Amino acid sequence: MKITVVTLFPELVEAVAQSGMPRVAVERGALSLQTINPRMFAADRHRTVDDRPFGGGPGMLLKPEPLAAAIEAAKAEAPSAPVWLLSPQGARLDRDRVADLAQQAGVVLVCGRYEGVDQRVIDRLIDAEISIGDYVLSGGELGAMVLIDAVARRLPGVLGDAESVAQDSFEAALLDHPHYTRPEDWSGQRVPPVLLGGNHRAIDAWRSSQRVQNTARHRPDLFYGQGLDARARAELTATWAPEAPWQTNEP
Ligand SMILES: C[S@@+](CC[C@H](N)C(=O)[O-])C[C@H]1O[C@@H](n2cnc3c(N)ncnc32)[C@H](O)[C@@H]1O
Repeated sequence: MKITVVTLFPELVEAVAQSGMPRVAVERGALSLQTINPRMFAADRHRTVDDRPFGGGPGMLLKPEPLAAAIEAAKAEAPSAPVWLLSPQGARLDRDRVADLAQQAGVVLVCGRYEGVDQRVIDRLIDAEISIGDYVLSGGELGAMVLIDAVARRLPGVLGDAESVAQDSFEAALLDHPHYTRPEDWSGQRVPPVLLGGNHRAIDAWRSSQRVQNTARHRPDLFYGQGLDARARAELTATWAPEAPWQTNEP
């Protein structure tokens, strides 16, 4: 997959590929990350990319000409790639959108700055606006990096079987189950005995039950939402174990 990021801060975005799963994805050839800086397309000798808003008001806006030229340059290299603008006004990024994007050959991500982007650029060149949450960042770069990280770990060959996304939160509309490692007893909090017994059917059943409980407790909107129909909920709730794990733990 090829991701091209249009940004005034390429060094910030490129840092995402220097560690973790994006780095693995790049090293394994599953992801190629490119940045294009609108400043390179500014016509004046000061390489101006912003200007005051018509009608007055605070802050500056990204000027249309250099930004549009940078987006056109990105599209020229990946004509079929959708162009997404990071924007607090966009559709909220979620698991399904990330999973869909990971199936695509590429995407162009456009990072706004200042008060944002001239509306005419959005109208002419942007296919979708994507938000990473209901708060305002000072630029789209962190949003682009979130998207790149989330997509990279879903690309084929990036995560091994042992780290598969299948059990992650939000797959099958459920959150993940709790995880434990050594020591078995940490300051009086013991690992649930079922995880120590080697009975993999029992471990799977316990994990399923914990996923359901986690989801119902932390994200009732998911639990009662469209992702899980009534029958599936009934089947899953039949496996509930109500106590917290360390309360059920006999020495
Ligand atoms: C300071 S913000 C502009 C906010 C804009 N005036 C508004 O209130 O909708 C500058 C840029 O940061 C990015 N940005 C800010 N918050 C974001 C969010 N929640 N998700 C994605 N991008 C965001 C966008 O690219 C935006 O153009």
